[in-house]
Amino acid sequence: EFGYFTYDAGFTSTASCRSDITFIDGENGILLYRGYPIEELAENSNFLEVSYLLLHGELPTKDELDQFNRAVTEHAMINESLKDFFDGFHYNAHPMAMLTGVVASLSAFYHDAIKLGDPRNRMLTCHRVLAKMPTIAAAAYKHMAGEPFVYPLNRLYYTENLLNMLFSRPTEPYEINPIHARALDQLLILHADHEQNASTSTVRLASSTGTNPFASIACGCAALWGPAHGGANEAVLNMLHEIGDISQVPKYIDKAKDKDDPFRLMGFGHRVYKNFDPRARIIRKTCHEVLNDLGIENDPQLELAMELEERALEDDYFVERKLYPNVDFYSGIIYRALGIPTDFFTVMFALGRTPGWLAQWNEMVADPEQRIGRPRQLYTGAARREYIPVDQRK
Ligand code: SDX
Repeated sequence: EFGYFTYDAGFTSTASCRSDITFIDGENGILLYRGYPIEELAENSNFLEVSYLLLHGELPTKDELDQFNRAVTEHAMINESLKDFFDGFHYNAHPMAMLTGVVASLSAFYHDAIKLGDPRNRMLTCHRVLAKMPTIAAAAYKHMAGEPFVYPLNRLYYTENLLNMLFSRPTEPYEINPIHARALDQLLILHADHEQNASTSTVRLASSTGTNPFASIACGCAALWGPAHGGANEAVLNMLHEIGDISQVPKYIDKAKDKDDPFRLMGFGHRVYKNFDPRARIIRKTCHEVLNDLGIENDPQLELAMELEERALEDDYFVERKLYPNVDFYSGIIYRALGIPTDFFTVMFALGRTPGWLAQWNEMVADPEQRIGRPRQLYTGAARREYIPVDQRK
């Protein structure tokens, strides 16, 4: 149902739904998952614990967390027949095309196992999707690389498994770097949910028809792919590559301000945050930690990104429009440092957002009042008029 309510800031907005999951205060840069500040979760928790929190509403006890970890780990394999699906893609297929297609195809394996009215069955579905996303993502990466798929290993933690499935080779096993696994885990936490963003709203709208959750999550992947949304992290690295070096920053700041120029500062601005995006601040700090661990000093792209941020935040155009770095501005620099290719960055965003999509799906399907989403429009077309036979048209 669409309702109208007035924020403290004195302006009204439309609400697409009610939710207990994530709270954002865009004026003050506040982000809470089930009431817990993102800064504390990023510092003290891990991605599977945060996934449990988003799905169940409370932080787990140790036994609950162990049971959840086991449930997710046990479902990490994908059906062997899906390998043929990947073989149908050209090696240069965009990994978001593969992820979106293969996630939707999970419907073919579990369609008859879905009982939307059964909370336990819904949670089993959430475990399955959460578990299989990294395996599907890594399989897409291996298909692009022309390397053999690597199976998940039950003895590894979620992000360690992901790194191993991405980078292990028959000739050279991958040696887990705990700092990289931790940095990746923190990035996934920061992307885990974000209220009714475009992809989450897409998952809700698709799910409101009663379709299966695999199809709905695939819809979320498709919406996330756009450069105005989750595709921005890939667009930021392409932008930094185009700018080249710090001497070009003033020219590109001017391009971003020029109404007649389609260039925008990717990774800047946000529909809700009209102050800093708390996630961007945390990611910028993690950037330095990962690059230091890799022994990379004065990374040219990080230097360039920081110069862009500094120049933009001194410029009235950006300050007046309250345009600040968002979650996508620095994340790609970490992914690149971990060896993840630019066109794979949005896949990483999708992996992070999966528990949020699932929690929002589960919350909506569990609501007995829930009805099919049916946005209306303001009609601005022609008034009623009579049909004219083709031989009488001028
Ligand atoms: C994500 O919703 C979420 O929560 C999303 C997300 C999540 O976790 O799910 O946070 C993830 O999608 C982050 C956003 C990633 N996208 C980008 O970084 C792409 C670059 N940013 C812009 O495209 C834009 O800022 C948006 C899409 C993010 C927000 O768009 P809005 O709110 O519709 O802003 P707008 O288009 O109304 O812009 C207002 C003004 C305009 O200028 P004027 O018409 O007032 O003169 O600001 C300008 C815009 O031209 N502007 C920019 C700009 N973003 C807005 N100018 C230059 N560079 C930019 N990036």
